[in-house]
Order: sequence, then C-alpha cells, then structure tokens
Amino acid sequence: MTDKSRVLIFDTTLRDGEQSPGATMTHDEKLEIAMLLDEMGVDIIEAGFPIASEGDFEAVSAIAKASKNSVIAGLSRANYKDIDRCWEAVKHAARPRIHTFIGTSPLHRGITNLGTEEMLERIHDTVTHARNLCEDVQWSAMDAIRTERDYLCRVVECAIKAGATTINIPDTVGYTLPSESSDIIAMLLEKVPGADEVIFATHCHNDLGMATANALAAVSAGARQIECTINGLGERAGNTALEEVVMAIKVRKDLMPFTTGIDTTKIMHLSRRVAQVSGFPVQFNKAVVGKNAFLHESGIHQDGVLKNVETFEIMRPADIGLTETNIAMGKHSGRAALRTKMRDLGFELADNQLNDVFVRFKALADRKKEVYDDDLIALLTDSTANTDHDFLQVKWLRVICGSDGQEAELKMLVDGVEKTAKCAGDGPVDACFKAVQAIYPTTAELKIYQVHAVTEGTDAQATVSVRLAEDGRIVTGSAADTDTILASVKAYVGALNRLRVRSQKTAPDADVKSISYKL
Ligand code: KIV
Ligand code: ZN
Repeated sequence: MTDKSRVLIFDTTLRDGEQSPGATMTHDEKLEIAMLLDEMGVDIIEAGFPIASEGDFEAVSAIAKASKNSVIAGLSRANYKDIDRCWEAVKHAARPRIHTFIGTSPLHRGITNLGTEEMLERIHDTVTHARNLCEDVQWSAMDAIRTERDYLCRVVECAIKAGATTINIPDTVGYTLPSESSDIIAMLLEKVPGADEVIFATHCHNDLGMATANALAAVSAGARQIECTINGLGERAGNTALEEVVMAIKVRKDLMPFTTGIDTTKIMHLSRRVAQVSGFPVQFNKAVVGKNAFLHESGIHQDGVLKNVETFEIMRPADIGLTETNIAMGKHSGRAALRTKMRDLGFELADNQLNDVFVRFKALADRKKEVYDDDLIALLTDSTANTDHDFLQVKWLRVICGSDGQEAELKMLVDGVEKTAKCAGDGPVDACFKAVQAIYPTTAELKIYQVHAVTEGTDAQATVSVRLAEDGRIVTGSAADTDTILASVKAYVGALNRLRVRSQKTAPDADVKSISYKL
C-alpha cells in the first residue's frame, strides 16, 4: 500500500460478530450482509471460520464466489488442517486471504502446552504453509496485549519472516488503554526487522468500553488496518464498532489525517440489517447508529439546532444514510409506493420479498393509523419468523388475560400437520410459550426474551427477540407486530425453527470447541 494515510477496514461481523452467543445468521443472511459490506467499500471481509462447521465453510465459499471488490478472509487456527480448510473456502475469491492465529500470552501458551521456542516453530510452520497456498496471509497474536513485549517482538518477526503480509495485534480481552495500544504498535514498528514491509492491524474488544479509542490510538501510531464489526457486535461487550471508527476518522480529519474507502451513507442500512438478522437490537443511545443519536430533546438543544445545526450536531444524519423520506404510507398506498419507500430507506426488495412485505404492510395499515418508517423496517424483522416454508408455523392464537388469570389457545402447523393446545400460565406470554411447548415439546432453554416498542403511541408495533440454547447451540428469533403477545409467539417459534435448521445443517468440528493447535 503506497498511500500512507489510507486505513484499511477489516470487517469481522460475520466471524467475530457472529461468534457472539445467539447472533447466529443463516446462510442467506450472511451472504446478504457480505454483499452489503462489499458495496459499502469494506476492504477485507472476514467471512467466517471454515473449519468450525459445514455451514461456516459453505457460507465462506459462497461469499468468496460472490464478492466483487473486497478481499475475503477466513479464520484458521495454527494447524495445517484448519489452514487447508480455510483455503478451500476462500480460494474462490478474486482476492482471497488466509487469516491464522495463535494465543501468544503466557496464559495461552499455558493452555496450549507450547513453550516459547515450540510456539515460534509452530508460527513459522503454519504461516509458511498458509503462504504456500495464498499470497495474502494475515497472522494474529491472540492476546497480544498481555504477551511479554520482547516475546511479542519475536513472534511478530517470526511471522513476517515466514511470509505474513498483515500482522494483527489483538486486544482479545478488551484490557488495553489508548496509550498502551499506541505504544505497542510504535514499539513493534521500531524494533521488529521487516515491520515496515507489512501492514499492522488493530483488533480491539470492548470490555472496558475503549475499543474505538484503542483502535484509533493504534492507527495514530502506525497501524493501517482496523478490525471491527457493524454495531460493535461480538462476544461479551463486543468488538470495535465500524461505524464509530469510520465516522471518527471522517469527522476529526483535523486530528487524524487518514482516509477509509467506506461509503458512509450505507452505514445506517447495514446497522439495521445486522440488528435484524442477528437479533441484537442497537441500544437507543449507541454512538452514530442509535435511535437517539440525532435526536435533540432538551429545549436549549432544539433551539440551538434550529438556529444553526452545527451547535449540537457534529455530523449530519445524511452522512450515515439516515434520510427523511416524504412519502406518507397508509392503507391506500400501493406496491410501487412501498417499493420506492423501502428503496429510500435503503432496502432494495426482490419481487417475492416485496409481495411478502406488502401483505404484512396492508395488514398493519388496517390496524394502525400512521405507518412510520420504523414500522416498515420492523416488517422486515418479521420476515425472519413464520414463513410458509417453516417447519413450525403459527396459524392462530387466542389469549385471555387480566385479573382473572391467563390462558392461551394456539393452533400451529408442525411439518404441515395441524395441532392445537390450550394452556394456562403465569402471564399471557408464559401461557403462550407453554402452549407452543405442548404442541412441540422441546428441551431448548430460554436465555433472553426482550421486547422493544418500534415507535411511540399505544398502537406501536413491538419487536420481540427470543434467544434459545440447546446442546451448545444458541439461536435468536425475532418478530414484530402491534400485538406484543403474537409477536412473542412468532419470535419463539422462529427461534425453534432456527434451532432445527442448525441441528440439521451443522456438524461442528469437535476440535473447534477447544483451542487445539494440533498440526
Ligand atoms: O480477539 C481475538 O484475538 C480474535 C483473534 C482470533 C484474531 O478474534
Ligand atoms: Zn476478537
């Protein structure tokens, strides 16, 4: 890379983000998100961990085949089997990358039973192996921040000598501070022979809420690749949020004279889609993409913004693709208006999707006086639940609730066969979930049940997310409806459908659950 001010954006929503318990996406969802990332100008898309399961392998291969601009990377541990499997998946891309890693801190060396010299040998062998398959090899020192500085210099030098073209310095447990993050990159650039010939990457987790600051500090010291996810999705407190680092670089050009290749007007759409397909809603006050990020409630702020928008706004809603559309939607609106409106909101719907959303839009418009933009977006959330192809389908629900007790009567199709149940419960949602279980007994454990109102008003739609766990698999189902109880049942049934699809499709490599580096 000749332009020293250019910062590469490496998106790992589909790998580190999807690793977040419950954020599992289907094959088609992963492909859709990857294509949106590709169009947005992400330089490298980490599409998955090919050895982890057949599903991961297929998703990475499909993304590699379909990608137009981005480099497509797959993750692999430091062993030949992982690396070969990764290559088999990414090799279809116009620009493939193998990303291989090993934990270098004393804690990780302890659990992998590799001494310092043995680990150096392992790094040399695996990076060389990867480099013999692929020209573009990224090597990561997992838990780099807690690795002894001298040893970190030695492992990085070893990986560079073996042919790695990108060196990633992860803060795997979100432990570092901005000053330390920049010091480490500066030290590596100064001390490691060959450091000026590779790209240094920063990969920060957000356990102390500093992932964005730490990533930017690393860039100020010379790192030129930021690893991040949309909405900061990721294990525990998540990863560096793509939208935050990209907008920080754009807004504070005065202090950070860098550029990215990101079309920022596509950020909002991606944020919404990732929230929908992962089942992880974005918190209202989330930087850049939260619902309140551009709202001015207090009198002083409103007054200031009306007089001069720059008083309280450091970026414009339009910069991230948040546009006000002027088509009002109601029960008389037709298909063409819906298509245009959805396009304005950033959603390009295929004909069959449009038909599906249109039917649900009409039903909603019959019940609700005004259909807001957020209502339309929520209709897409609902498309993940209860489609005609699903194994379990909700056909009909009646609920009695109030001071005299709660009871649910439910009719569902189970693999095309009609079944009904009537159950009492501790509240209407409990009664409904019991009715689902009476029809379709399951050992799946309910991990999260959450409800959000899409808009204001008592006729607002509710989006409901239900996260279930069974045999080590975690899935999330989401649905939206003005009837919160019905949305809850659809979300629950959607999650059960996902569990079933996952148990049929995935054959996890037993090794992946442990950190195994067997060659
Ligand atoms: O956080 C981490 O260390 C990782 C590596 C696999 C790069 O995600
Ligand atoms: Zn990570």
